[in-house]
Amino acid sequence: MKILILNGPNLNRLGKRNPDIYGTITLKQLESCCEQYAAQLNMQVECRQSNSEGTLIDILYNTDCDGVVLNAGALTHYGLSLRDCIECLDVPVVQAHLSDITAREDFRKVNVLQDVTIDNCYGQGVNSYYKAIDILAKHIEEKTK
Ligand code: DQA
Repeated sequence: MKILILNGPNLNRLGKRNPDIYGTITLKQLESCCEQYAAQLNMQVECRQSNSEGTLIDILYNTDCDGVVLNAGALTHYGLSLRDCIECLDVPVVQAHLSDITAREDFRKVNVLQDVTIDNCYGQGVNSYYKAIDILAKHIEEKTK
């Protein structure tokens, strides 16, 4: 089983960007943590990041992975092209967010990806990604039974 860890706009700045909110972990470290976590579950991981909505959409349409953990960054709140892409994707997508998007500014409480993704893990830093991997693994396993 192979999953895609897909990070959106500005997540390449992790480590430097608002460390009080997102912590000091870099994207490289985050990706390596996910790789190690998934390996324990016998899952392979591919990691990608883009600051562009169109590129994220192209990555999703072209993926050969069995599922996706997606942190769409701010596109979570207004990325309707991304939403439409996920809606017609055959691959399951679980959201991961480092911060608690339900307890920040009002615009972050809007989640346009909510109804097209399987679940949404937020507010737990790297653990949000681990939780999303767990949910994805369970979902894929159940579907292939
Ligand atoms: C984020 C939350 C978003 O609101 C923000 O725009 C991000 C990161 C998170 O991981 O907590 O870029 O998705």
